[in-house]
Amino acid sequence: MAIIYDRDANTFTIHTANTSYQMQVDKFGYLLHLYYGSRNSGNTNWSLLYADRGFSANPYEAGQDRTYSLDFLPQEFPGQGDGDFRSPALILRDEHGTFGSEMKYSGYEIRKGKYRLEGLPAVYASDEESETLIINLENRRLGARVSLYYGVLPELDIITRAAVLTNEGSRSFTVSRFRTASLDMPAGRYDLHTFYGRHTMERQHERTSLGHCSVSVGSRRGMSSHQYNPFVMLSDPDTSEISGRCWAMEFVYSGGFAAEAERDQFDQVRMQMGLSEDRFSYPLEPGDSLTAPEVILTYSSKGFEKMSHNLHKCIRSHVCRGKFRDAKRPVLLNSWEASYFDFDGVSLLELAKQAKELDMEMLVVDDGWFGNRFDDNRALGDWTPNEEKLGGSLGDLISRVNNMGLSFGIWMEPEMISEDSDLYRAHPEWALALPDKKPVRGRSQLVLDMSRKDVREYVYNAVCGVLDCGNIEYLKWDYNSCINDVYSHTADDQGKVLYDYMIGLYDVLERLNRRYPDVMIEGCCGGGGRFDAGMLYYTPQIWCSDNTDAVDRLYIHYGTSFAYPSSAVGAHVSACPNHQTGRVTPLRTRGTVAMSGTFGYELDPAKMSEEEKAEVREQIRGFHAVNSLVRTGNYYRLSDPFRDDYAAWAHVAEDGSEALISAVIMQNHGNMHNIYVKVRGLISGEVYRDMVTGRMYAADALMDAGMPLPQPHGDAASYVFHLEQVHNA
Ligand code: GLA
Repeated sequence: MAIIYDRDANTFTIHTANTSYQMQVDKFGYLLHLYYGSRNSGNTNWSLLYADRGFSANPYEAGQDRTYSLDFLPQEFPGQGDGDFRSPALILRDEHGTFGSEMKYSGYEIRKGKYRLEGLPAVYASDEESETLIINLENRRLGARVSLYYGVLPELDIITRAAVLTNEGSRSFTVSRFRTASLDMPAGRYDLHTFYGRHTMERQHERTSLGHCSVSVGSRRGMSSHQYNPFVMLSDPDTSEISGRCWAMEFVYSGGFAAEAERDQFDQVRMQMGLSEDRFSYPLEPGDSLTAPEVILTYSSKGFEKMSHNLHKCIRSHVCRGKFRDAKRPVLLNSWEASYFDFDGVSLLELAKQAKELDMEMLVVDDGWFGNRFDDNRALGDWTPNEEKLGGSLGDLISRVNNMGLSFGIWMEPEMISEDSDLYRAHPEWALALPDKKPVRGRSQLVLDMSRKDVREYVYNAVCGVLDCGNIEYLKWDYNSCINDVYSHTADDQGKVLYDYMIGLYDVLERLNRRYPDVMIEGCCGGGGRFDAGMLYYTPQIWCSDNTDAVDRLYIHYGTSFAYPSSAVGAHVSACPNHQTGRVTPLRTRGTVAMSGTFGYELDPAKMSEEEKAEVREQIRGFHAVNSLVRTGNYYRLSDPFRDDYAAWAHVAEDGSEALISAVIMQNHGNMHNIYVKVRGLISGEVYRDMVTGRMYAADALMDAGMPLPQPHGDAASYVFHLEQVHNA
């Protein structure tokens, strides 16, 4: 039993293999948070400290007892108006604008299996693997009920949280903040870890000591964003990859978000994650409900590595779905960096021919194949193949590519509309734009109003129309603008639009997933601007960044790896000098880096020398040998490229029988010092054989002394060691 309700103590305890989480309903009916940490037993309410503290107010029920105050007690789901002046999880206003959302316990339910969320992505698990706890809180004055959902996957040390707010009263109220998860930590020193970035440089890991302040990151852009990922961690100041405590929150949502960590006057820390409050104000009429999207929690007492392993397993096997979840992905050639908009049917077939000769498996036709799309200023929304440009129908092109022995994939950006498009000319009101203001454009385009049913129908039918043109096996679903202007012509309240947009998007993606189980959808948002667990529920991989430079990718992959498995990381080998940075890196290194993700190519093979082509064939052979390990193995960060002068990482089979160690020395220097990569995850006492050189290594020596990297020649030299366990003679 993962969930225990102790009637006498009024505690709820959640146990996973290595962690425990505990709450208690106290004498006044407040739900207090007692503990989240290493697995233990018993009631931990001894951790609560009561004291008469100045300016810490007392709820009416406490009478003359000044030692009881929610100003310092740890709350599970803090509202507003109960004397707690830290960040609330919920802000409600009644019809007069009065604030107040204090919540008291009203009941619970324990269920077998993991809850699902209507219309939203969520972790899934079988009834044998999971349990659900629902705790109801209520605000009698408003008739508001919040059901806190806890999903428990004990084997993975994963606890998920979601919340459903229902208006059970007789008058309306408005929700202006609804954060899914709030976690109060005991007094102490903590580091906050965030993953900031920008277009072409996403998810840069930043660790800061949390001072007496409230630090928040998030997105107001209508998507999870390049700028901050909806994933944050707290840790002890000395937590490392392999030791120390850390707590992670990961949002299963792709729209705007807020994540906050606040260190209060008594050194306690409150960590929260949930919907962004920006342009959010959601009225609930009697009988209406609103769901706060899911947050995945995990705790590790063994450093970041264990935390990432928990999350990787959860995302890989309990968020990603469908046929491609566990499948090897095709080695593809994407036309974008090969020719951008400058292609026609003949050049595409030439690309396909070259791809086939190099043993690639799929041609992906990126942007530019439809309507009047000769550049990025027009035609989004007009999803009719441009037969003149393609030299025939899309179906014909697909058949020809298939006949060459390659499968076919295509790019679309279904949520967008260009003003210069037939769609806009027919339906200007389908774009999100204020009626009395010129819109702000991103990449010359506007965003479709996915909160509208008719728009969703159009988008769904447009995508089906394209996918039905022929044997399309892969769809790259792009999204290249923030939501700048928020106005829907059909919304009864504009404060609902950003949330309803996401519900609309997920509805379309869900229907497409069901109708096309054999089409793999890759998420994309100018690279990794919507790289989140919400999208991964519908698209088992996401184009990680528009930056294909192998050196920059080391930093991007490093940050991404804290929360996301390699199987989700879209990565390609591109041409040099690199189109984003102008940097020249060895082809071998570009392969090493891309092979840690989904792998593919994004270049024009006709421009390669015969030697390079031979190397590409070799790379692809190598990819087939290691890919199942990369997709399913445990991931180890063996260096911190922000601190070390090399990047090193390993994929190790769950049973330790096989390991792929990869490393890149970013910059060479005269008479370079030696670098030894300390490996982890091998079986102590065993011997491993390098499958290429035949060299034998004792596991403990590789883990203690490290694998030496031969002297580099030039910058960005890369090294790969594919090891298999041999039995110790
Ligand atoms: C975005 C994507 C790229 C490419 C272009 C096409 O930037 O991230 O990979 O598809 O759009 O316009």
